[in-house]
Amino acid sequence: MAILDKKSSQHSIELEDKYGAHNYHPLPVVLSKGEGVYVWDVEGKKYYDFLSAYSAVNQGHCHPKIVEAMVNQAQTLTLTSRAFYNDRLGEYEKFATEYFGFDKLLPMNTGAEAVETALKLCRKWAYEKKGISENEAQIVVCENNFHGRTTTIISFSNDPVARKNFGPYTAGFIKIEYDNIVALEETLKNNENIAGFLVEPIQGEAGVYVPSEGYLTKAKELCAKHNVLFIADEVQTGIARTGQLLAVNHENVKPDILVLGKALSGGAYPVSAVLANDHIMEVIKPGNHGSTFGGNPIAAAVAIAALEVVRDEKLAENASELGDLFRSELSKYIEHSKIAKQVRGKGLLNAILINDSEESDTAWNICVALKENGLLAKPTHGNIIRFAPPLVMNKEQLLDCVNIIIKTLKGFE
Ligand SMILES: Cc1ncc(COP(=O)(O)O)c(C=O)c1O
Repeated sequence: MAILDKKSSQHSIELEDKYGAHNYHPLPVVLSKGEGVYVWDVEGKKYYDFLSAYSAVNQGHCHPKIVEAMVNQAQTLTLTSRAFYNDRLGEYEKFATEYFGFDKLLPMNTGAEAVETALKLCRKWAYEKKGISENEAQIVVCENNFHGRTTTIISFSNDPVARKNFGPYTAGFIKIEYDNIVALEETLKNNENIAGFLVEPIQGEAGVYVPSEGYLTKAKELCAKHNVLFIADEVQTGIARTGQLLAVNHENVKPDILVLGKALSGGAYPVSAVLANDHIMEVIKPGNHGSTFGGNPIAAAVAIAALEVVRDEKLAENASELGDLFRSELSKYIEHSKIAKQVRGKGLLNAILINDSEESDTAWNICVALKENGLLAKPTHGNIIRFAPPLVMNKEQLLDCVNIIIKTLKGFE
C-alpha cells in the first residue's frame, strides 16, 4: 500500500506543487511511461498522446533507434564542451546540412536558444555584410508570434502573460500583422535598417494559424528584393509535422536562416540548431556565440538517428495522409456540431475552434474530458485545442482517436 501511495498521481502533483515553481498549468495526469503513440500514467492507464510534447516527439515515444543511439553514445562520451573537438559533431553537421540543404549548422539545445542564435546571426550579418550602422538593425516579427521565453524573445511577444513585469525589453523589433503581405511590403519599403523577417510558417502556439497560400513565397521574394534575411522558425512546424519535411516546403520557399528544435531529437534530448549558407554563417567567429552543451556527442548521435527515422519511416508522407483524414473526419462532425466550429491545420498539426469565448475554460474542460476518455491534448487558448499526435500513428489508431474526440465533444453539446 505504501508503495502504491508513493506512486499515485496525487502524490506527484503535490510534490510539484510544493517544490516546483508554478510556471506551468499542466493537465492533471502524471505520466510514467511512453511507447510510440501511447503514454501511461502512474496508475497504469493508457492514453493516446495527442500533443507529442508540443511536436517534439514526432518520431513517437522512446523510438528504439533513437534510444539505442543515445544509450550507445552515453556509454562512450557525453560531453567535451567545444573547447575540444569531438568525433560526432562534424559527422552530424555534415549529415544535417545535407539533409536540409544548407552549408553550415550552428548547434544549440533548446528552441528559444536557437531563435536567439538566429537573431544574433541576423544582426551581425546586417552590420558586417549589409552595412547597417551599428545598433540600428531592426528585425520584423509578427503579431501573436511564439518563439520562446528568453528576455529578448518576450520583448517582441504580444502575450501579456509572457511579457508583463519582465521589462525592460530588448529594442530593435518591428511587429506587423501575420499573413499580411502588404504590411510586410510597406515596412520593408520604408526602412533601410531592416536586417531580417522572423516568421513561423504556421503559427502554432497562437492556435495553429495557417497563412494564406502564397504568403510565404511573397514574403521571401520581398525579403530578397530588400536584402533582408528570411528567418523561418520551424521549431514546431519542422521535421515532418505538417506533412513536408519543413512547412516552408509547401511553398518551395528556402529560408536564409532556418531554426529547428524539438523533433530534431525526437524528444529524447534537448537539441536545436540554426542552419544557413556560408555567406551568412561566416560572420560568426570564435567567441561570438556558444553553449557548453550545444553540439555535444549525445545530441549529435541522437539527432542523426532522429532524422534517419523521419526519412526511413516516411513520416512526412504519413503526416500528410493522416492529417487529411483527420480534418475530413472532423469536418463531417463539425458541420452539425454545436460545440466545435472549425478544424484547421496542415499535416498532423491541427486545431479545433470551440464555440465559446477566448476567456472561457471550455477548451480546458474538454481536454480534461478527453483525458478521461484516453486521449491527451492541451488548449492553446480558452477556445482552441491543438491536436498534434506522434507522426508514427497509423490509420486505425487515428480513426480511434477521431472517435474519442467526437464522442467527447458531443458530451459538451
Ligand atoms: C515556433 C517556436 N519557436 C520556439 C519555441 C521555443 O522552444 P523551446 O521551448 O525549446 O525553447 C517554440 C516552443 O513551443 C515554438 O513553438
